[in-house]
Amino acid sequence: MIIVANWKAYIDDFEKAKKLFAISKRIARASKNKIILAIPAPFIGAFAVKNKTKVAFSAQDVSLTTGGASTGEITAQAYSAVGATYAIIGHSERRRAGDDYSVVANKLAHAITHGLTPILCVGEQERDSEGKYLSSVREQIVTALEPLTQKERTEIIVAYEPIWAIGIDPTGVIAPNDLTEMVLYIRKVLAELLPGKSSAHSLVLYGGSVEQGGIRALAANSGVDGFLVGRSSVDPHTFSALVKQLD
Ligand code: 13P
Repeated sequence: MIIVANWKAYIDDFEKAKKLFAISKRIARASKNKIILAIPAPFIGAFAVKNKTKVAFSAQDVSLTTGGASTGEITAQAYSAVGATYAIIGHSERRRAGDDYSVVANKLAHAITHGLTPILCVGEQERDSEGKYLSSVREQIVTALEPLTQKERTEIIVAYEPIWAIGIDPTGVIAPNDLTEMVLYIRKVLAELLPGKSSAHSLVLYGGSVEQGGIRALAANSGVDGFLVGRSSVDPHTFSALVKQLD
């Protein structure tokens, strides 16, 4: 399984970041799971350059710009230059800050151009009884992938992150059955967009209040290939216990 630790902006203390990185390396060495650290940009700069460990690094976002006079922006190329190999694109916390469909599609293209494997986040605002949440997820995938070439589409990892289940104040927890349904649905949408049978190799992750207590049930029969973990990834003991659940 793949476990992406999304530190968001929870960690801004360098000593704490170093400690969490050291523990993550140890966890990765002992685990059969792949650990990807999606951490604040300065910490990627500090840790990824000479990284010879099993841990991989992901940007939490990339700039819409490809360079030039854009103060404060961090391009996909800059992330790639310091050793990041993945990029989270279209996280709901970025969509809320203004990333619309076209921004997400362009950022995906930049990430791929510069050798970063995109982790495309999709997810509905709420669950309704008419199944509109399914079309909302479909729309997010289709608008993101359609502008890409067929080959590029095969490189995308999709992370299903229902907005209602994410962050510090979630209004619910996903049931394993509901996750199974959504993973199947996402695979169906991918099958329509990817060439031949290549969608069979696409990776689908889940994120939203993933905790040590529930992760095994979510992993068991849902068909997910891994998890995006927010809060539970920034405490060393909690994160270590969570990864162990999947070993
Ligand atoms: P939480 O695990 O804190 O709900 O965050 C999930 C998430 O947004 C990961 O990208």
